Amino acid sequence: MADEERAPVTLAPVLSASWDAEESWTLDTYLANGGYEGLRQALAMAPEDVVTAVKDSGLRGRGGAGFPTGLKWSFLPKPDGGARYLVVNADESEPGTCKDIPLMMAAPHFLIEGVIITCWAIRAERAFIYLRGEVVHVYRRLLQAIEEARAAGFIGENVLGSGLNIEVVAHAGAGAYICGEETALLDSLEGRRGQPRLKPPFPAVAGLYARPTVVNNVESIASVPSIITEGADWFAGMGTAKSAGYGLFSLSGHVTRPGQYEAPLGITLRELLDMAGGMRAGHELKFWTPGGSSTPLFTAEHLDTPLDFESTAAAGSMLGTRALQCFDETTCVVRAVLRWTEFYAHESCGKCTPCREGTYWLVQVLRRLENGQGTPEDLDKLLDICDNILGRSFCALGDGATSPISSSIQYFRDEYIAHLTGGGCPFDPVASTLFA
Ligand code: NAI
Ligand code: SF4
Repeated sequence: MADEERAPVTLAPVLSASWDAEESWTLDTYLANGGYEGLRQALAMAPEDVVTAVKDSGLRGRGGAGFPTGLKWSFLPKPDGGARYLVVNADESEPGTCKDIPLMMAAPHFLIEGVIITCWAIRAERAFIYLRGEVVHVYRRLLQAIEEARAAGFIGENVLGSGLNIEVVAHAGAGAYICGEETALLDSLEGRRGQPRLKPPFPAVAGLYARPTVVNNVESIASVPSIITEGADWFAGMGTAKSAGYGLFSLSGHVTRPGQYEAPLGITLRELLDMAGGMRAGHELKFWTPGGSSTPLFTAEHLDTPLDFESTAAAGSMLGTRALQCFDETTCVVRAVLRWTEFYAHESCGKCTPCREGTYWLVQVLRRLENGQGTPEDLDKLLDICDNILGRSFCALGDGATSPISSSIQYFRDEYIAHLTGGGCPFDPVASTLFA
């Protein structure tokens, strides 16, 4: 399908199909909806054929970066008799991103079935699901689902008579944003302070305990069972030519019905807002994030930008985690950007100077602008600090921290200047329900 040819925007939900069912998280409900059929089919295939199916489907990483999933699996060296691992990155922390947690709460067996199929495909016998320690309810749900799967013979020795031995471990971290970065996550899993490692080597070659490791996002792995049962062509037939399939879009902010909306990649915010009842009554969209606050802001002029990897990049941003935080005209953009920047400064792991020092200074300058103590040089100072972080940081956190600042100055320079000339924030904090 050519990129400009659009698939229908409606989609029979797949990942979210059973979310409203009674006790949707139980094995019984999952089995009643055809669950673990993908595993049965995958175990009847050669592992390499499972890798090929995922490659052919065009599935790209749903954690934000969009790296082709099947290709990542194929980077693992040939088995040498030593350990190899699957690590599921469930440390969802990007501001506005709330898709993996609802998925794990409502349908954890989608993830667990995907984990077992992936272990078969990459010939791993141990999988870890790493999630934030704060989400104790999700951790408990995963533990319960793992036990159900074990009791049913899907986890353990000689799964369904295939010869596959597999253990799945849910691991709760301590709640640091940086541990969503895959190599910091691996350090944390090994018991060390989570800080990014130098890449290469990529985890596929030297990951957990320096052994070949596939690190994939929750939604990527949960997409695998349906690719096996429905076929690679079915998945590739949705979305666009280079951004295949469907995904969960998280709408939040000043939206009438915020929540998770499952749709083919390439859908637009205008179409998603139609499903979500539009912006709150009487208000208009002012700015939004296509993929969380690490992605450059969009404005109302981007309402019709297809939400796929290529189109968002061509329009100056990124698809990222599909966290669509929508703000109306009552929101002060400087205030919103300050809140995000405070988050990045707090979560900076401190390993490299541009990010550690730069995010601190960005907060100082934004705070004084918002509080009416800014100087005319402050805009250039902000852009200069961003310039010294972007491309000079050790990991994506530093680069991501600059995105809302530089894009907001690009689109809302006048609003920054109004903070200078008006002696502080011109917005009534009470009018905005989000930043009051
Ligand atoms: P990346 O582009 O460096 O890597 C993406 C994946 O591809 C990694 O698993 C990496 O190991 C693999 N890869 C890339 N090149 C490879 C090669 N040559 N050989 C083998 N494997 C290779 O992106 P990164 O830093 O992992 O992630 C950044 C993204 O994370 C951002 O775009 C952002 O959207 C997203 N993000 C998501 C968050 C969340 O809560 N889900 C939080 C923060 C950021
Ligand atoms: Fe740590 Fe920030 Fe450097 Fe990443 S960019 S390694 S989070 S200090």
